[in-house]
Formats: sequence, C-alpha cells, structure tokens
Amino acid sequence: MSQASQTPIISESKLLSGLFQMLEPHLSTLDSFLLRQVSSFEEEIREYVEYCIDTGGKRIRPSLIFFSGWQGEGVVDQKLVKLAAVIETIHLATLVHDDIMDGADIRRSRLTVAKKDGNATAVLLGDALFSHAVYLATQFPTSEVSEKVAIAMRNVCTGEILQTMQRGDPDIDLATYRRVIDLKTAELFSIACFLGARLAERDQPYVEAAGNFGRHLGIAYQIYDDLTDLIGSEEKIGKTLGTDIATGKATLPVILLRDRLPTAEATLLRDTLAGKNEADISMWQSKLAELGVIDTVREAILQEVQLARGAITAYNGNEDADLLYTISELLWNQVEALQSDRARS
Ligand code: IPE
Ligand code: IPE
Ligand code: MG
Ligand code: MG
Repeated sequence: MSQASQTPIISESKLLSGLFQMLEPHLSTLDSFLLRQVSSFEEEIREYVEYCIDTGGKRIRPSLIFFSGWQGEGVVDQKLVKLAAVIETIHLATLVHDDIMDGADIRRSRLTVAKKDGNATAVLLGDALFSHAVYLATQFPTSEVSEKVAIAMRNVCTGEILQTMQRGDPDIDLATYRRVIDLKTAELFSIACFLGARLAERDQPYVEAAGNFGRHLGIAYQIYDDLTDLIGSEEKIGKTLGTDIATGKATLPVILLRDRLPTAEATLLRDTLAGKNEADISMWQSKLAELGVIDTVREAILQEVQLARGAITAYNGNEDADLLYTISELLWNQVEALQSDRARS
C-alpha cells in the first residue's frame, strides 16, 4: 500500500464547515471590502470589475493570511483584511490573464472575461486589477508589503511567461516544471502566509516558517490542480478542464505519463503536446491510471504537504500554526476526493 493511501483523513464536511465558521466574519468583511473597491474604478468599467470580484472563489490565499496571523475567534484585523484584498486582487488579475493564455471558457462556474468580453478587454482589465492591488499595498505604513507584493507579482508573471514560452515543447523536464509552479503559484501562497504573520506582529522565525509552509503548500496545490485538469469533474470544479494537454502544457502528470508510455504512444503524446494532433483526453486518462501515474502524482502532493507541515512543526500547539496545518488537511482531503470521484465515474 502506498504511503499516500495510508494517510488518515478527517471527514471533509466536518473540516470544511468548522473552518468556514471560523473564517466567516473575516471572509464576509473581505467580500464587503472588495466590493467597495469597485467604486474606485472609473464608472465605465465598474461592471467589468464587479464581474471579476465575485464571491465565487475559494478564497484560499485570504484564508492563509487570516490563519497565519490568527488573533482569536471573531477577531477581524483590518490590516489582514486589506492584505487579503491585495493578494486576492492579484490572484484575480492572474486568473483573468491566465484564461486568455489557456483558452478557457469557464471560471468559477461562469464565462471567463476573455470569453465574455474578448481578449483585449481581459488583458487590460487584468492590468487594471494588478494596478489597484499595488495602490492598496501602498497604504500600509511601511514599504515592506508593497515591496513583497511587487516582487511576488513579478514572479507570478515570470512563471506564466516561462510557461507560455515552453508551451508546445514536449521535452519539458521535472526541474523546469517545478520552477514554473514555484513562480506562478507558490510565490503568492508564500507571501500570503509570510505577510499575514508579519502584519500580526509575530516573531521573525515564525514569519519565515509560515512563508515556507505557504511555498510548499502552493507547490502541492498546483500539482493537485494539474491532476484535476486531467481527472477532475468540470461540474464540481467549476472551470474548464482538460486544457493542459490540449494546449501543449506539460504538467507533472503529463511528464510522468510521457516517460512511462511505450515508444509509439509516447510519440503520439509528444505530437499532441506539440499541437500536431488533437488531444484525446479520455484515452490519456485511462493511460494515467493504467501506468500508475495518478498514484505517483498523489505521492508528490503528499510529499509537499508534509514539507509544508514540517516547516511549522516547531509551532505545533499554537493556534495559528494548527490552523495552517488544518488547511493542509483540507487540501489532502481534496486529493482523496478527486480519487473517489474517479472511482465513481
Ligand atoms: C486557481 O486558483 C489557480 C491555481 C493556482 C491553480 P484557485 O483554485 O485558488 O482559484 P479560485 O480563487 O478558488 O477560483
Ligand atoms: C495557475 O495555473 C495559473 C496561475 C497561477 C495564474 P492553471 O492555468 O493550471 O490554473 P487554472 O487551472 O486555469 O485555474
Ligand atoms: Mg489556466
Ligand atoms: Mg489548472
């Protein structure tokens, strides 16, 4: 039995409802804060901004901020709310841009901005959202938030640029894949935890430990997302799936599959990634299961989840670190759920 399948899991609904209850005051304050931002934009584009700043996202990065700087049940720190708005707005901007590059039609169970209003509007709207996030970041008393946020934005864009340049290249290796996901996803997870702890005035070792936790969790989350793209249900996830192979994006499951397939099929997959033929997703799904790729990907996620937990073990028993740990359990439960969705289908 694999290490991944031995890991005990807490009931998904119990975990989710408990966390949701704890975060409810924080997330509803954040939603109101974000909605108020709409009026900062020029009147002509407000309806577009409002469409992006909906409440349909999972608010993972804000949750990491509130938990890493946890101040007790019901205590909503306005500094953390503003930071959550900054990070969530950056995240929204990257999604608006990402959906153009991935040719995705659905995000958060509705049309992507690119599909609804066209690529040109989506590019500029993403830029306007990025700019507004920077504007909010400048409102903190010290320059640390702006500095960290600006660097993170640059890194997220760099990850997406590298990925765009590598699209269609069937020979991507694991180190290159990891570099891209570290930049495009883990960076924002990491600064969410780092700055959440910093603004809550925690000591430097904990601030750094929280940042490391976020980095590993972000890597784990992106690998989970990449597996979801291949074996998840669009209805449950609420976004277009199956675009990675179809648009030549070699993610971890795709790289492992490529390296395990017999020569003729490996060539077919390479050609598909290079855009020479259309992707037959259901065939590749069967091959992923047959060749044990899904299990290996789950092991890779678990390894990162454990590294994340390892980063904060010195703080076990502290409420903030224990809440971060709980988020790692939630992610692992999602991975397990993905597996059982597949078994049922
Ligand atoms: C999607 O992020 C992009 C990835 C990093 C995989 P989320 O899964 O956090 O998206 P929302 O905010 O819940 O829609
Ligand atoms: C994450 O990668 C993109 C960003 C970090 C912006 P994906 O392209 O896999 O994200 P989804 O699947 O579209 O949400
Ligand atoms: Mg995408
Ligand atoms: Mg994806």
